[in-house]
Amino acid sequence: MSEATKLQLKQKDFLQLDDFSSEEIKYMLETALEMKTQQKQGIPHPHLSGKVLGMIFEKSSTRTRVSFEVGMLQLGGHALFLSSRDIQIGRGESLSDTAKVLSRYVDGIMIRTFSHDSVEELAKHATVPVINGLTDLQHPTQVMADLLTIIEHKGKLAGLKMCYIGDGNNNMAHSLMEGAVKAGMDISIASPAGYLPNGKITERAIEAGKQTGASVMITNDSVKAIKDADVVVTDVWTSMGQEEESAKRLNDFAGYQVNEELCAHAKEDYIFLHCLPAHRGEEVTAEVIDGPHSVVFDEAENRLHAQKAILKLLLAK
Ligand code: CP
Ligand code: NVA
Repeated sequence: MSEATKLQLKQKDFLQLDDFSSEEIKYMLETALEMKTQQKQGIPHPHLSGKVLGMIFEKSSTRTRVSFEVGMLQLGGHALFLSSRDIQIGRGESLSDTAKVLSRYVDGIMIRTFSHDSVEELAKHATVPVINGLTDLQHPTQVMADLLTIIEHKGKLAGLKMCYIGDGNNNMAHSLMEGAVKAGMDISIASPAGYLPNGKITERAIEAGKQTGASVMITNDSVKAIKDADVVVTDVWTSMGQEEESAKRLNDFAGYQVNEELCAHAKEDYIFLHCLPAHRGEEVTAEVIDGPHSVVFDEAENRLHAQKAILKLLLAK
């Protein structure tokens, strides 16, 4: 990794994986692996001593909140949990004013919100890096943890086949598509009609895949999508903010459960990923998520390590 690439990451926003080159993503993952090893060996790495991350949450979170907060502490810094219920955003203060004010206090802002435009707006007005902690459209920090987990279990990314079954039009499907192709992994997505991935993001992924030799397949056929997959992924059928549609979604996704019968079409040594929280008996059976192919808790742990690398590369001097 050249000095120039490192400099490009410094003070950059982390809004979606498509904003980063394959080389930058690889560098962030290598940094995460190094820092994870240091952490396991008890070697301190206070790269963000005295720095503060403001974390705005407009939706619930277990993993994102805890991993960012613990990550900042392990880096020698501090994180502020700012629930939109308690700060003035919840009473209508604009994102632009919030961005300008917070930038006077903190060294970085992480936000979990609904509209992706809100994150873009915040980033436009903030003078410190903004990190996307999930929007309706993208969940890029989760996918960095997913890529790290795949490297640990498969020893590589390029040349593998990832398959995602379920809601193709959600944050996980979109970020997985971007992350997979940038890493040189083929991705196949199986979703019912009406739940196909966002067209623009799909086009961008197909374009990005041309640079790395990775392909994108979108289909309604789960068996076709999962055939010979190295990595099988799913996500909830009803994402945060869609609760009113949950009965309809249960019905629409009925044939798209990840179960042992479906996984019999994947490679024998496939691994199963799910960002969590999961609904056993809906998008995945207990046999699969609690079975020998599942690495979901390694994946959850890797939120911490992947994000620490991102925080270090964006915020450290
Ligand atoms: N996977 C994930 O983002 O989990 P939380 O919603 O608990 O943060
Ligand atoms: N697609 C899910 C991911 C949760 C981490 C949601 O947005 O609710």
